[in-house]
Amino acid sequence: MTKKYITTAIPYMNGNPHIGHAMDYCLADVCARYLALSGNEVRFQAGTDEHGSKIAQKADELDVEVQTFVDEKAETFKEFIAKLGVSYTDFVRTTDEWHERRVQEIWRKLADHIYLAKYEGWYCTGCERFITDKEYEENGGVCPDHLKSYEKLEEENYYLRLSDFKGRLKKAIETDEMLILPDFRKKEILKLLEESPDMSISRPVTQLKWGVPVPDDPTQVMYVWVDALSNYITVLGYPEEDISGWWPAAAQFVGKDILRFHAIIWPAMLLGLGLPLPRVLVSHGMVLADGQKMSKSIGNVVDPNEVIDKHGIDAFRYFFLRHIDTFADSDFTWEKFENAYNNELANDLGNLVQRLATLASKNGIKLENETNVSKLSLEYQELMDKFEFAKAFDLTWEKVQGLNKRIDEEKPWELAKNGEKEKLGECLTTLIVDLLQANTELSPFLPEASKKIAAIFAGEIQPPTTPLFPKN
Ligand code: MSP
Repeated sequence: MTKKYITTAIPYMNGNPHIGHAMDYCLADVCARYLALSGNEVRFQAGTDEHGSKIAQKADELDVEVQTFVDEKAETFKEFIAKLGVSYTDFVRTTDEWHERRVQEIWRKLADHIYLAKYEGWYCTGCERFITDKEYEENGGVCPDHLKSYEKLEEENYYLRLSDFKGRLKKAIETDEMLILPDFRKKEILKLLEESPDMSISRPVTQLKWGVPVPDDPTQVMYVWVDALSNYITVLGYPEEDISGWWPAAAQFVGKDILRFHAIIWPAMLLGLGLPLPRVLVSHGMVLADGQKMSKSIGNVVDPNEVIDKHGIDAFRYFFLRHIDTFADSDFTWEKFENAYNNELANDLGNLVQRLATLASKNGIKLENETNVSKLSLEYQELMDKFEFAKAFDLTWEKVQGLNKRIDEEKPWELAKNGEKEKLGECLTTLIVDLLQANTELSPFLPEASKKIAAIFAGEIQPPTTPLFPKN
C-alpha cells in the first residue's frame, strides 16, 4: 500500500467555527477518503492554531487567561470537526507540549539561515503578517481585509534569509515539483516570491508573550506562522521520528488567503531543513454569504452548526462539495441550500433509493453476495486525481439522475404486471448494481448516506421506513 499524507489549515482559535472553515475540512476529507478508497494508506492531519497577537488580544479583551480561552475554543472546533465527519487520523494543538518542543528543534536546525536585525515597518494583527512598504502604500495604510490601520513596529527580530532559497523555490514552482492549484495562483506566487524580502520570524516578548519561546533567547517568541506551519511535520513526530514514509504530503489544502504562507515561507523552511516540498498545494476560494465576505461587523456570519442541524451532515457536505466551487469564490444562501437539498438530494438520490428498494423487495430481488460494486470509473478517477472534486461529484450525480430516468423508461412495474420474471430480475439487478457503483463514488462526499444505501441493498433488501432525506 502506498502511504499518502493529507493536511488541512489549522484555524486560529480566536472565535468560533464558521462555514468558511468547513471548506478546508470538506475538501481534505474527500481527498483522504478517496485515496483510502483507491487502496492507499492515508494519514490525515487536523489541528488548531493557538498562538499569536490576535488570540492574545482577544483573550485580553474578554479578560480570560489565554490558555483557558484557547482550551475552550479548541474543544468547540474539535466538536465541529467531528460533526462534519472529518476522517482525520492525527490532531495537533500548537500549545501541545510536544509541538512546542519540536518547533524549537526546527528553529535550531534552521539556525544557519537565521539572523538578528532591526525591523522597522508595518504589521497587521488581523492577518498576523508583516506588511511591506509597497503594500502599505497600495492600501493607503489600512488592511483591506480587516479594515484596520496597519500597526507601526520598530523592534529587533530574527529573520529567515529567504534569499538562500529563492532560486531553488522558483524552480520547484515553475516545474510543478511543488504543484500549485489552481494554475493562475502559481503566477501570482512567482511574482510575490520575486518581490519577497527576507522574512521577520520572531517578536520581542515585550510586544508579545503568547508564543513559542525562541531557543536560547528569552527575549523573543517565534512569529506565529513559523510555529503554525511546522504543525504539518511535528504532528508526524519530526524531528524525533523518521517521517520519510509520510512526508512529502500528497496534498495540502488551504484557502487562497493563506496560500502565500504555504507557497513561500513553508517551502523555504522545508528547504532549510533539507526536507522535500509538498507534492501539491490546493488553494480553494472563499465562501461568501449573499455575495459578501462574511464578517462579524456586517453580521452575516453563517453558523455551520445551524446548517448541519437543519438537514444533517450529508446535506451540508453535498452543498459545499457540489455547489461551492473548489477554486473560485462562491456564495452560500439558505435558498440555494434548501433547493439543493429538496430538488437534488431528496428528489434525485433519496427517491432513487426508495423506488429501487421498494421494487426489489416487492419482487423478491436479492443481489449475489459476491457482486462487486467497488470499481471507480476512469473519468471519475481522472477528475479526483486532478482535485476537481466538484466536477467528479457532478459526473456521479449525472449517473444518479440517469438511473431515475432509466426506471421511468424501463418501467419495471409493467414487467412485473406482465409476469416477465426473468426480464424484471435482470432489469432491477442491473439498476441496483449501477446505483451501488455510483454509491461507491459518492462515498468520499456523502459518507453517512453512502453507508446507509449500501446497507439497504445488502442481503434481504428492505426499503427504508423513513426517507433518506426527509423533506420538511
Ligand atoms: N491559522 C491560520 C492557518 C494556519 S495553517 C498553518 C488561519 N486561520 S483561519 O482561521 O483564518 O483560517 C483557516 C482556514 O479557513 C484557511 O484555510 C482559510 O482560508 C479558511 N477560511 C476562512 N474563512 C473562509 C471563507 N469565508 N471561505 C473559505 N475558506 C475560508 O488562516
